[in-house]
Amino acid sequence: MADSIVPPDDVQNAPDPALEKSAEPLLRMVGITKTFGAVRALTDVDFEVYPGEVVGLVGDNGAGKSTLIKAIAGVGPADQGDVFFRGQSVKLTTPQISTHLGIETVYQDLALCDNLDVVANLFLGRELYTHLKTLDEIAMEKEALRVLQILDVKLPSLRTLVASLSGGQRQSIAVAKTVLRNAKVILLDEPTAALGVAQTRQVLNLILRLREQGLAVVVISHNLADVFDVVDRVIVLRLGRRVSTFDIHTTTPERVIAAITGAEFGPANPEKTQSGSVSGGNPA
Ligand SMILES: Nc1ncnc2c1ncn2[C@@H]1O[C@H](COP(=O)(O)OP(=O)(O)OP(=O)(O)O)[C@@H](O)[C@H]1O
Ligand SMILES: [Mg+2]
Repeated sequence: MADSIVPPDDVQNAPDPALEKSAEPLLRMVGITKTFGAVRALTDVDFEVYPGEVVGLVGDNGAGKSTLIKAIAGVGPADQGDVFFRGQSVKLTTPQISTHLGIETVYQDLALCDNLDVVANLFLGRELYTHLKTLDEIAMEKEALRVLQILDVKLPSLRTLVASLSGGQRQSIAVAKTVLRNAKVILLDEPTAALGVAQTRQVLNLILRLREQGLAVVVISHNLADVFDVVDRVIVLRLGRRVSTFDIHTTTPERVIAAITGAEFGPANPEKTQSGSVSGGNPA
C-alpha cells in the first residue's frame, strides 16, 4: 500500500492528485448533528474530503447541504460532532477559525463589489501597499494575473468593472479570491446554478484547476451532469442524514438519483458503491 505523505504545508503546491488520494482527509467530520428548534437539519453526519479531490454534495431541497456547508464554514456551527483538520481536532465555531484554517466558501450571492474592478475585488480588505503606504497596484496586478493564469480564467482586462463580467467570470473571480487567500478547502454552493452552457463549462474547468492545485473542493449541485463532469466522489444527504457515497467512476446518475429520492434501485448493487455512514448504524 502506498503510504504517501503530503507535507502539511505544501498541500497547495503538491500538484499530483493521485499521490494525494491515499493521504488522510484534509477535513474530516464525524457525527455532525444540527437542529433548528424542532427541525433536525443534520443527524449524525460524517463527512470527509481529501486534498486534490472534488466531492459533490447532493440531496433534495432541505436535505441539509447548506447546513453542512455552514457548519464547515463556521457560520452555523454544529451542535454535536467532531472535526479534524489534517488529523488535528478543531472546533469550527466561528467563520474566523474556518478561514484561518484555509476553509473558504463561495456562496451564490458571491459578495463581489460591482462598482470595483477585478483587481480591487480580488484584494478587497487585503490590499497590498508600497513602502510609501500607497496602494501597490503593480504588485496586486502581478499577483492577480498569476492566480488567474493558474486557474485559466479568461477576462477582458484586469481593470474591467466586475459589473460588466459574465456570470461565469464573476464566479471565477469569487473563487480566485479564495485562492489568493490561500484556501486549502473550497466550498462552492451551487456554483453553476445561474449560468449558461459556456459559462458553466468555464466554472467546471475552474474546479478541475483547483483540484490540480491539490485543493480540496466541495461542490453542492442539483445538476447531476455537472456533478458527473467534475467530481471524484458524491456524498448524498437525505432528510439530514448521509445515506450514500459513490465513486463517480463506478456509478450512474440513476443510482445517485435513487439515493437522493430514497427509491430502491435494483437488486444488490454489483458496483463498488460504498454505502456511506448510514445514519443510526455504526460504520463497520
Ligand atoms: N436558519 C434556519 N432555521 C430553521 N430551519 C432551518 C434553518 N436553516 C435550515 N433549516 C432547515 O434545515 C433543513 C435543511 O436545510 P438546508 O438549507 O441545509 O437544505 P439544503 O439541502 O441546502 O436545501 P436546498 O437544496 O433547498 O438549498 C430544512 O428543513 C430547513 O428548513
Ligand atoms: Mg441549500
